[in-house]
Amino acid sequence: MTERDIPKVINISLEYPELAWSETLFLKEIHNPNSISIVTEHENQIIAYLCARVVIDECHLQNLGVSQYYRGKGIGTALMGELINRLAPFNASRIFLELRKSNDAALRLYKKMGFQIVAIRKQYYCNPTEEGILMLKTIHEDIYCITSDTTPDAGMRP
Ligand SMILES: CC(C)(COP(=O)(O)OP(=O)(O)OC[C@H]1O[C@@H](n2cnc3c(N)ncnc32)[C@H](O)[C@@H]1OP(=O)(O)O)[C@@H](O)C(=O)NCCC(=O)NCCS
Repeated sequence: MTERDIPKVINISLEYPELAWSETLFLKEIHNPNSISIVTEHENQIIAYLCARVVIDECHLQNLGVSQYYRGKGIGTALMGELINRLAPFNASRIFLELRKSNDAALRLYKKMGFQIVAIRKQYYCNPTEEGILMLKTIHEDIYCITSDTTPDAGMRP
């Protein structure tokens, strides 16, 4: 993700208000050496993005969004696979993330990627009030270098 990508990334994030970050927040991610910020492009358009932060040996998924038209095509799976690949130099051993209990698509994506539910946080989200699910995936060295299928011609870059 580069500074030029941010307006399009913000547009995608606005499709799911929970993810709507300000320009300042995305800028902080881009310039933080412990952050991993990836975009997926298709026909020169940004169609998805992911932001994660590494703290010591833990990675925290901060933000993930796929533009509505491109959902259900494997792009979220590919971005999560790419995140795992990019964690190798950090020697991160775990990835944590949180999501709304009602977010079925995300829950299925993360379960498919091997995440497990480790805690339910009551009244974690507001507007509307809802439980949060905390998920964890433990990373082993042998799973770095995941390859995943994605929309033909869609490519990822920092
Ligand atoms: C969650 C999200 C990132 C998934 O991205 P995606 O590119 O659509 O996901 P994929 O196509 O890789 O699908 C991965 C799995 O998610 C599940 N899934 C995807 N879309 C789904 C839907 N509409 N309903 C139920 N499950 C769904 C499926 O299990 C799918 O695996 P399968 O195709 O093998 O069955 C996307 O729906 C999105 O941007 N949602 C709004 C933002 C959001 O919720 N972000 C996560 C916040 S924690």
